[in-house]
Amino acid sequence: MMLAAWTHGCLGLHCALRAQPAYRRFSHLLLAIAVVLPLTAAMGFISIGREFQWTGVPPAVLPTPEQGKALDAAEWNIKWFYALALLALLAARWGRNWFARLSRQPSIALHYPDRTVHVPRGGSVLEASRSHGIAHVSICGGRARCSTCRVRVVGPAGNIGDPGRDEQRTLERVRAPGDVRLACQLRPHGNIEVTPLFAPLPNGGRPAPVGNFGRERDVAILFVDLRRWSGLSERQWPFDLAYVLDRYFATVGAAVRESGGVPNQFIGDSVMAIFGLETDLPTACKQALHATELIDRRMDAWSEGFEAQFGQRLGFGMGLHAGRAAVGEVGYLETTTFTAIGEGVNTASRLQDHSKTSASRLVVSLFAAQQAGVADTMGPAETLAVRGRLRASPSAVSAARDHPCVIAQSGAQTHSANHGAVSHCIPWQRRMSAVHTVS
Ligand code: FES
Repeated sequence: MMLAAWTHGCLGLHCALRAQPAYRRFSHLLLAIAVVLPLTAAMGFISIGREFQWTGVPPAVLPTPEQGKALDAAEWNIKWFYALALLALLAARWGRNWFARLSRQPSIALHYPDRTVHVPRGGSVLEASRSHGIAHVSICGGRARCSTCRVRVVGPAGNIGDPGRDEQRTLERVRAPGDVRLACQLRPHGNIEVTPLFAPLPNGGRPAPVGNFGRERDVAILFVDLRRWSGLSERQWPFDLAYVLDRYFATVGAAVRESGGVPNQFIGDSVMAIFGLETDLPTACKQALHATELIDRRMDAWSEGFEAQFGQRLGFGMGLHAGRAAVGEVGYLETTTFTAIGEGVNTASRLQDHSKTSASRLVVSLFAAQQAGVADTMGPAETLAVRGRLRASPSAVSAARDHPCVIAQSGAQTHSANHGAVSHCIPWQRRMSAVHTVS
């Protein structure tokens, strides 16, 4: 009984708090407490039982007649309290229904494209869909952290109401039209028409289980890309190219793994790696920077003989950013793969692109550098426009072995001319030694 109650409570707290960064930071400690506490309690219970077995149960001290009367009265008071609380709950429920009947509006009608359902006022549209078996996508589980439950609504403004702060933020982020709302947040006050806009998933639109798709984490994302791959492809036999790719993937993959990350995707001549699946964000960023150092060193060692064998130098670029991403499995049937999805992933990819134009091997967002605690060692940042971003993006710094560090700050404008501001720069090797110290 105790085990069931404790497990139930822990699961409830976990589900309620799992999106909080502070909770995730201490989740390992809390898990240890959740396991150790009931174990020690059970051990204490067993221990005292054994002690009684050896020493004999001490004689019971019976209460005096006055104490007995007081205990009986307390017991009755507690029973009465529970009975009254239960009655009050039932009365409140009956009162709500009675009030709804009295106001002649026991329920509201939601008109879906293929049917109309009647639900009590106060519930969300997503709850209405669930309770009537209507497939409705809700990837984040109704926390306004996605927009997959979005619906087009038609009806009097008074029946629809205004979006709350969280809903408004999500709607602005996806630039939803004025008649689109989040079903999990919308609690209609009267009859309206609703049209779910996302086709149901194969699982009927239920939230995916935790550990599958839908878990959010703060992660660091590293992209590595080979340079001049097309030229190499034109001159080399396919099996020679396969050898180059194999060795390149092995070099990058091993560096990522040794640093604590997960080499996640190998696409063409690009590698995407995720850091932070098991650690907090500062550690993830330090691990990612450590991986860039290993990759840089090992690719350099390989490149010494590469030009003699393949007729061109071995070049590559890296982009590193950090932020919140949905991590989990995406795909269809046997092609499902584990990956990370989010703005931070796209930005990391764009920073890798920028390493080509800035003649740098590594472009790091200032946010990632700050999280790793090395931003101060990297000099001032340069503004960098990240293609596809509407909002000002975090600052970025970049570095190349053969060039002093190029400092960049991303945002609406590009100041690539600042690349010449070498007086503010830090040599690559020095920056790397700083990273090595903190990792
Ligand atoms: S289910 Fe994610 S916002 Fe509604």
